[in-house]
Amino acid sequence: MKVDNAPWELYKKVNIPFNPWELQNLYQWRFGQTAPENMPQSVNLSDKSNIVVLNGLYEEWGLTEQFKKLGLKPTEFGLYIIKPGSFEPPHKDCTMTGEVREWALNFPVLNCDKGRTVWTREEPNEYEDTKSNFKNNTKTFYQRKKTRDIGIEIDSIVMDGAYLIRTDVPHTIDNRYSDGPRVVLTYRFDDISWDEITNLI
Ligand SMILES: [Fe+2]
Repeated sequence: MKVDNAPWELYKKVNIPFNPWELQNLYQWRFGQTAPENMPQSVNLSDKSNIVVLNGLYEEWGLTEQFKKLGLKPTEFGLYIIKPGSFEPPHKDCTMTGEVREWALNFPVLNCDKGRTVWTREEPNEYEDTKSNFKNNTKTFYQRKKTRDIGIEIDSIVMDGAYLIRTDVPHTIDNRYSDGPRVVLTYRFDDISWDEITNLI
């Protein structure tokens, strides 16, 4: 439930058909035995989270046909993994060239019913910008804003399906009350605005 006057809608549940069990099984088969930091093309976002960049690997997650039908071509995709019992400091996402990214399309993979995606009020004086880089690449992948705690919540969702989410408003994952890693399959698209994508799907 929204508790502040956010200037825009922060998320939209979408109707892209996907099989949650298939995503879960594929994840378990492909990565289930590996610690996130040891997965291929894994980027440590903090000591609490990793993003496993799937671009450049052969990865079919059963969504290619859906995207084709919609005329969508992902520019980045990966697995976003938060350790159990922890939360991320709020942050905004960035493109490969360092600009703030407006939105993402996320699919639940593991333990998404136990954690929340939370948007927080932007409080510039409490944050500082830092950047994480690809292990073998100097391009900026990600920008985060550190804070002592989770911040003042303005809205949150439990990811009970596929969601478009705003990533240009400070947001975080609260996985404090879960005993398992929370895994999301996340797709990023260039050159399509939030308004366009929310009209399309
Ligand atoms: Fe993010």
